[in-house]
Amino acid sequence: MAQEALEAAGSYPEIDAFYDSLPDKNGALIPVLHKAQEVYGYLPKDVQLYIARKLEIPASKVFGVATFYSLFNLEKKGDYRVNVCLGTACFVRGSEGVLAEFEKELGVARTETTSDGTFTIGSIRCVGACGLAPVVMVNDKVYGRVTPDDVKHIVDEYLGKGGE
Ligand code: FES
Repeated sequence: MAQEALEAAGSYPEIDAFYDSLPDKNGALIPVLHKAQEVYGYLPKDVQLYIARKLEIPASKVFGVATFYSLFNLEKKGDYRVNVCLGTACFVRGSEGVLAEFEKELGVARTETTSDGTFTIGSIRCVGACGLAPVVMVNDKVYGRVTPDDVKHIVDEYLGKGGE
């Protein structure tokens, strides 16, 4: 059966295989959630319910852990996650203006994803590159000394208009 059909039927073989591979099933919830996010990019409701059934724990416990830790995404993110640093060094060098320009350029607010699923805008705290403030990260790539005027160029780079 194809992966999509299995998922539609409420079967998640990658989660099963990962869970089965764990030597200690106690404390499996967080590792299983990590695995699910790695596979699906976020934690859809159906997957959370499946994990609750699989681990034989209440769904409310799964949901509670998934919402408590900020590293878990409950909503599907864009292909490119734009994160503007709002740490002190970046903030005093104008990162809020950079964030506002991304919101304007992409037509969505912070934490939102563009309707085509390409970009999600977010903010982060200091990433340890204060010498490059203001800092923007797009997925794992770091941009330093970003000004509002650079925003369109960065966006175009990911739309294939600007080249790498
Ligand atoms: S405050 Fe932005 S990298 Fe440190």
